[in-house]
Amino acid sequence: MTEGKIWLNGSLVDWDDAKIHVLTHALHYATGVFEGMRCYKTVSGSAIFRLGDHIQRLINSGKAYFMDLGYSKQQLEKAAIETVKVNGMEECYVRPIAYYGYGKMGVNPLPNKVSVAMAVWKWDEYLKADGAEKGARLMVSAWARIDNRAMPMHAKATGNYANSALARVEAIKAGFDEAVMLNTAGMVVEASAENIFIVRDSTLVTPPTASGALDGITRDSILTLAKEKGINCEVRDISRDELYIADEVFLTGTAAEVKPVGEIDSRVVGDDGKVGRMTKELKSMFETVVHGKDKKFSKMWLVPVN
Ligand SMILES: Cc1ncc(COP(=O)(O)O)c(C=O)c1O
Repeated sequence: MTEGKIWLNGSLVDWDDAKIHVLTHALHYATGVFEGMRCYKTVSGSAIFRLGDHIQRLINSGKAYFMDLGYSKQQLEKAAIETVKVNGMEECYVRPIAYYGYGKMGVNPLPNKVSVAMAVWKWDEYLKADGAEKGARLMVSAWARIDNRAMPMHAKATGNYANSALARVEAIKAGFDEAVMLNTAGMVVEASAENIFIVRDSTLVTPPTASGALDGITRDSILTLAKEKGINCEVRDISRDELYIADEVFLTGTAAEVKPVGEIDSRVVGDDGKVGRMTKELKSMFETVVHGKDKKFSKMWLVPVN
């Protein structure tokens, strides 16, 4: 995508004009925080899924880095809607970012101005290559996931993604689709850019945020929908070998949505690596909600663009 408008510090600028200086602080020292949201085409027009929650997480991420974004939550929500609208997108991915800009070099970011931008683009189902019925192939990364002693892991911060990128590239080069990351205690945390769930004995399990997992908005949505369905849910640590004997495994994230997993470290998930019953049910429920076909949750979580 190379056309359209990008919201930059309060103005809508042409795609090619949304440029930064090479001495931007965040480029050198990874002092940025960002979000990823999706705008869906719903039965009653385009709507952004959990807009308020995403903007709140952006503000919270900034707080960890002493970043005053300079815009209220309301103003940022409005900016996201305006950016989707001006680009004439029915469905898109929305990427807000706040970062310490160009000014004074050196590790301390505080002397630099904070900039805020929002871009939108078409981002079809990510991790798609393997078709709907076949799950993704994962490998456990040799890179440990950074944790709360090193970085504020509740913050969706650019710095965290150097660790993610190393794991993702390692997995791709080894012929897998995605990496699963373990924390320094050896427990499963998440994939390089998605939360992870397993199903064992009809119970849905996901690792706690205190183990280093991002407080994912899709993760929260799936836990909420599962509880609504009467599914037993547990938030607890998962060991690497428990992944191998899970009945079902899936990933969640704004970009990836609900992505079934068919194989981990060359071990087939469940009996045959095919998409499991609970994964199918939750994926379908999620799709119903984001497309505005569930009255209760659509009202709760969808913010109309028009
Ligand atoms: C490291 C990581 N974990 C989990 C997620 C899923 O979070 P969400 O569902 O809020 O997109 C993401 C994506 O944003 C991520 O980058």
